[in-house]
Amino acid sequence: MPGIALVGLQWGDEGKGKVTDLLARDTDVVVRYQGGNNAGHTIVVEGERYALHLIPTGILYPHCIPVIGPGVVVNPQVLLEEMTALTGRGVDVSRLMLSGNAHLIMPYHLELDKVTERRLGKNRLGTTKRGIGPAYADKASRIGLRVQDLLDPKIFKEKLEVALKEKNVVLTRVYGRLPIEHQAVEEEYLSYAQQLRPHIADTSNFVQHALDDGKTVLFEGAQATMLDLDHGTYPYVTSSNPIAGGATVGAGVGPKDIDRIIGITKAYCTRVGSGPFPSEADPVEAEILVEAGGEYGTTTGRKRRCGWFDVVVGRYAARLNTLTEFVVTKLDVLSEFDRIKVCVAYEFEGDRFDEFPPNQTIFNKCKAIYEELPGWKEDITKTTRLEDLPKEARAYLEYIEGLLNVPVSWASVGPGREQIVQVK
Ligand code: IMP
Repeated sequence: MPGIALVGLQWGDEGKGKVTDLLARDTDVVVRYQGGNNAGHTIVVEGERYALHLIPTGILYPHCIPVIGPGVVVNPQVLLEEMTALTGRGVDVSRLMLSGNAHLIMPYHLELDKVTERRLGKNRLGTTKRGIGPAYADKASRIGLRVQDLLDPKIFKEKLEVALKEKNVVLTRVYGRLPIEHQAVEEEYLSYAQQLRPHIADTSNFVQHALDDGKTVLFEGAQATMLDLDHGTYPYVTSSNPIAGGATVGAGVGPKDIDRIIGITKAYCTRVGSGPFPSEADPVEAEILVEAGGEYGTTTGRKRRCGWFDVVVGRYAARLNTLTEFVVTKLDVLSEFDRIKVCVAYEFEGDRFDEFPPNQTIFNKCKAIYEELPGWKEDITKTTRLEDLPKEARAYLEYIEGLLNVPVSWASVGPGREQIVQVK
């Protein structure tokens, strides 16, 4: 031990990469446990900026073993491209471990993600179009292909035939698309097999041994609590479980193997894609947050929707993840404002909700109730000690800490490694 889970508390993009970087020195193994290349982790290591989508950030630290766990959905083409790009920048990727139980994203998953979104029209989810939802749907329907199938060409061919029989009917008859050629997919995927073979392993067993040997294992969540399939703002969610509980299922360890659960939240709030967002800022405020915070997606380049810190979401996430602490990122972005709004509760048809509402109709239609705090209007990007932060910035951190009833351990004040303030 210890096992540490790192989870996003909002709708993703909270800056988990920066916190991973902070913990990396003392971490032996980094495990991705859900999602796929819909994620985008930006990390700056020794002045070099890396945007990783599928490979765990541990790859950037020579002493860490990066692991893609069974709960991840893997597009092998993207994985190999990411490995090649890292190798080209001098990063050793030979340590990467890939679970044989992870499911494969197939070409028809990408196609189905696109055509389904198109068909949904104004009701579309705003997915990343990386085939994530269709791949997890096939996993649950038990017609998915797994990484280990790449190692047995006969099984791979049989399973692909079964899947394509159904997919091609849907693609051609429902969506008027061309069918996907069996032969071409088989050849493409089996060519990936040769390159991936040395990395494929029983990662659950490996991680358990690492924990038993006293190594530090970081379970790296992608996306975030409000995008969780079961607990997020369904249907505007991703198709996996980013919450801390998902780490046990998706990595293949027991609940008692995780002793520290760190939540990451921005000092304000953003989301990409469709769906309700009670604390969404007005267009003028939102534009300030977009520009000051550089709020454009790492994966899709989409402009993020911006709003104020939402205490109801924060409390909900603190409960669902049984947080032991949390980190507030991008505190410096709030330096732009004279007054800072915090959404402390929701109002719906005259009722006040301090807790997350029990059904989506309320969440869709509720209005944010705001408290306002004084801003600090000064550059804090060079501050590294808590006592050097303006008193208003400290008051802001104390305020949200009190409302979430979980200690804040760090506040980040810029993208660089050194731009961080230890709070506890
Ligand atoms: P999917 O995961 O591509 O199916 O997309 C489902 C929803 O999750 C969409 O609203 C996406 O914008 C959102 N989403 C998926 N991955 C991320 C992420 O890494 N950050 C923020 N939003 C994400």
